[in-house]
This record gives sequence, structure tokens and C-alpha cells, in this order.
Amino acid sequence: MEEYLELWFAFFACIILTAFYILYALIVIPSGGHPFGHFIGIIGFALMLATETIYTLRKRIRWLNWLGPLRLWLSFHIFTGIVGPFLVFLHSAFLVGGLAGFAMLMTGAVVLSGFAGRYIYTAVPRTRAGVELSRDELAARANALQRELDAWAAQKPGLLDTIQSRVAATPLNPNDWLGLFARAWTDRAYNQRVHAALRGLEKSERARFGELEKLLRRHHQLERQIASLTLVHRLMGVWRLVHVPLGATLFTAAFIHVFAALWFKGLRW
Ligand code: HEM
Repeated sequence: MEEYLELWFAFFACIILTAFYILYALIVIPSGGHPFGHFIGIIGFALMLATETIYTLRKRIRWLNWLGPLRLWLSFHIFTGIVGPFLVFLHSAFLVGGLAGFAMLMTGAVVLSGFAGRYIYTAVPRTRAGVELSRDELAARANALQRELDAWAAQKPGLLDTIQSRVAATPLNPNDWLGLFARAWTDRAYNQRVHAALRGLEKSERARFGELEKLLRRHHQLERQIASLTLVHRLMGVWRLVHVPLGATLFTAAFIHVFAALWFKGLRW
């Protein structure tokens, strides 16, 4: 749950904003040119500007470290990167064409690519500060878990072999990018198989097997993370080539749209 906190916050913020928008639509006919339409457009655009700039500044300027963990600022980036575009979308009153429509389309593409990037980004564990764990650190954690598993194996000879033969995990392929995207599903399927395999063993030991189950799950997850480390770096590199230029294109179009709106129509409050 903690892992998805910013997504939940953004989701609830969008629900609340939708409720307000429905109230507004009951009072007047929504329009981007209406004062309230302008207002939500400006707030949404400000949030999008914050999305574009604040995380990058925090990430790239060392002396801004005092502002707190990078991961927190990425969460802020994601929150404003969802709520800002949502407000701009409401501001458009769903009637978009021309340059504003193009900017909206780009916004949708940036947000969608953001979700894909977040999914790749979270494929490797990081510290609370957002620093990615190195291969050695991951290997040290996996070894520590392996030692605990060995202790289990010493207590109950044959137990781990029986479980492993029942679980039958597919070998991890470091270049399997489809597997990386399917990891939520494959991890879940593996966990279910471990659970089923342990349930099929001695009933009297079930409470203790809960601990073993967690060990096996965590060990498998770490092995998957170690195997996919290089692939994650490669994919993030390619992904940045899409996400960042899309953001730049969107702001170019949006600035022209705002400038044209001010120049030709003026802001009628
Ligand atoms: C208006 C919408 C958005 C804009 C303009 C935008 C722009 C950017 C930019 C410019 C970067 C590069 C930061 C840097 O490395 O300096 C970035 C990174 C990133 N964005 Fe977005 N973004 C938006 C929405 C989103 C959303 C909705 C998500 C997730 C759901 C997201 C996830 C990410 C991730 C995971 C990174 C990479 C972080 C890293 O490698 O340090 N973005 N975004």
C-alpha cells in the first residue's frame, strides 16, 4: 500500500475534483472560457509546470538535498503529474481541438508514459532516499536470506527440495523485458504456488511455515530484481527518450495555446 501511496492520493484528489466539477456543471454550463474554467485551467497548468521542473531541480542540484528524500519528490512529481493534467482536462470542458487539443493529447501521452516509467522504475528496490540498491547490496541481502533458508533446510531435510519441486519457478532471464512488465503477475503466481505447496505439507507446522513462506517469496523477488538490474537501466534510458521530449512538446504547445488565448481573446473574468 505504501508503495502506491502517491497513486492513491492522486486518485482520491481526482474523485474529489470530479465531485466539485459535477456541482459546478449543475450550476452553469462548463466552459474553458468561464471564470471557474479559467481558474481550474490555471491551477492545473501550475501543477504541470511544478511537475516539469521541481523534481528535476531537486534531482540535479546537489545543494537542494536539504529538501528531503528524492523518492518523496518523485511521489510529488507523480501526484502533480496526474492531478494537474486532470484539472486541465476538466478546464477544457471536454471540447478540445487545434493546438489545445494537441497539447491535451501530448499530456495524455506523457501521463501514460509516466505510468509505464513508474512501473519500470519500481522494478528495482531503493532506499527511502530513492537511491537504487547496487547489485552487491542486493546480492548481500539475497545471501542473508539464503543462509536463513539453509538453516530451515538443516532443520527439516528434504523440505526445501520438496517445495521447490512443487513450485517449479521458471529460470530468470536477464533480457526478458516482457517478464519485467509481467512481474506483478508472475510474482503473484509464484507466491500462490509457494503458499499452496506449504499448505500441502504438515498441518501442525503451518504457523512456522508462514515465516518460511515470507523468506521464499522475498528470496525469489530479490533474485528476480538482481537478474533484471541491467535491463531496468536500459529500459529506463529508452523510456526517458520518450517521456522527457513528450513533456517538452506538451509545454511548447501549451505555452502557445495560453499565449494565443491571452493575445486574441484576453482573460474575461
Ligand atoms: C505533466 C505530466 C508530466 C511531465 C511534464 C513529466 C516530466 C518529467 C520529466 C521532465 C522527467 C525527467 C526528470 C529528470 O530526470 O530530470 C520525468 C521523470 C519521471 N517521471 Fe514524469 N512527468 C509527468 C508525469 C508523470 C507521471 C504521471 C508519472 C507516473 C505515473 C511520471 C513518472 C516519472 C518517472 C518514474 C520519472 C523518472 C524518475 C527518475 O528516473 O529519476 N511522470 N518526468
